[in-house]
Amino acid sequence: MAASISITTPDDWHLHLRDGAMLQAVVGHTAAQFRRALVMPNLAPPVTDTTMALAYRQRILDCLPADTGFDPVMSLYLTDNTSIDSVRAAAESPHVAGFKLYPAGATTNSDAGVTNIARVMTVLEAMADQGVVLQVHGEVTDDHVDVFDREAVFIEQVLAPLRRDLPELRIVLEHVTTRDGIDFVRGSGDNVAATLTAHHLLFSRNDLFRRGIRPHYYCLPILKRRQHQEALLQAAVSGESSFFLGTDSAPHLRGRKEHSCGCAGIYTAHGALELYAEVFESMQALDKLEGFASHHGADFYRLPRNSGQVTLEQVEWEVPANYPVEEKDSAQGGMAEIVPLRAGETLCWRLCDQA
Ligand code: NCD
Ligand code: ZN
Repeated sequence: MAASISITTPDDWHLHLRDGAMLQAVVGHTAAQFRRALVMPNLAPPVTDTTMALAYRQRILDCLPADTGFDPVMSLYLTDNTSIDSVRAAAESPHVAGFKLYPAGATTNSDAGVTNIARVMTVLEAMADQGVVLQVHGEVTDDHVDVFDREAVFIEQVLAPLRRDLPELRIVLEHVTTRDGIDFVRGSGDNVAATLTAHHLLFSRNDLFRRGIRPHYYCLPILKRRQHQEALLQAAVSGESSFFLGTDSAPHLRGRKEHSCGCAGIYTAHGALELYAEVFESMQALDKLEGFASHHGADFYRLPRNSGQVTLEQVEWEVPANYPVEEKDSAQGGMAEIVPLRAGETLCWRLCDQA
């Protein structure tokens, strides 16, 4: 019999689902693995308030069978114009779990992001007062700062001062990619946590350039050098409650990835838990997977842990070359598709169908 591991049904605390045909194409992958997912608001136009988020949440649910059990938890897009009233509305909604800070221009659809943290200080104070979590894309956008240093510089210039000035604010440093980020979280007490993606745990920047340039390994924050990857791996398997699962699965059409100016984002929702299981197995730490995937995030968000279980078996399966999307790919021509991480390659863990 194949080796297997059962854990409490997990949650994905950082996910991009998009909208329309793309949403329809991807949401089933996440709903098959996770009970809850924190859905990012970087649509065009961005999801800036609770009314928009609840409408988006309904569009997500409409793509799934009625009995799915999947519970999208929404993040709102913080802008220079976010009001105190919208903080109050977010605090009151059971379906909203915070605001996402995108420094303007940092990543996909971030043009409406915050131009200067000083402009949102009163809003952040209101969030701290009301226990609303701030999810942070932790990179500076200054072109003069090397792309591999943008997280470390953001921590030094923005996050550490924010933490000092407003220690009651609860912060998640999303998709942490550096030793600097890990050290910052460890030194910041209970109000600061971080999500870790499967791809930043599995790969370093060498993988972006392995015998050629590999657009499907390009994401933001960009993959870092091996020493940083090692710090992330240690944190993930440490059992520390401030580190938890957030895939940052970010689908883009093939034609927008395989392009002279390719989009940032890696699609991992098709095999998210399997990829994390591979990571934890490689660290001889499968016993730490459950805390990371199913307990720490719920605890940080002050939500109940899930009650069900999922089982992973050690069985090989081949990742499809692509997943179809029911629309035209204008950059590529023809019908659209997403190229998943590890397309055409073998994964060694497989999620069993749930009873
Ligand atoms: C994300 C996307 O495509 O929306 N891209 C990415 O590389 N991670 C945006 C983000 O989370 O930065
Ligand atoms: Zn993201």
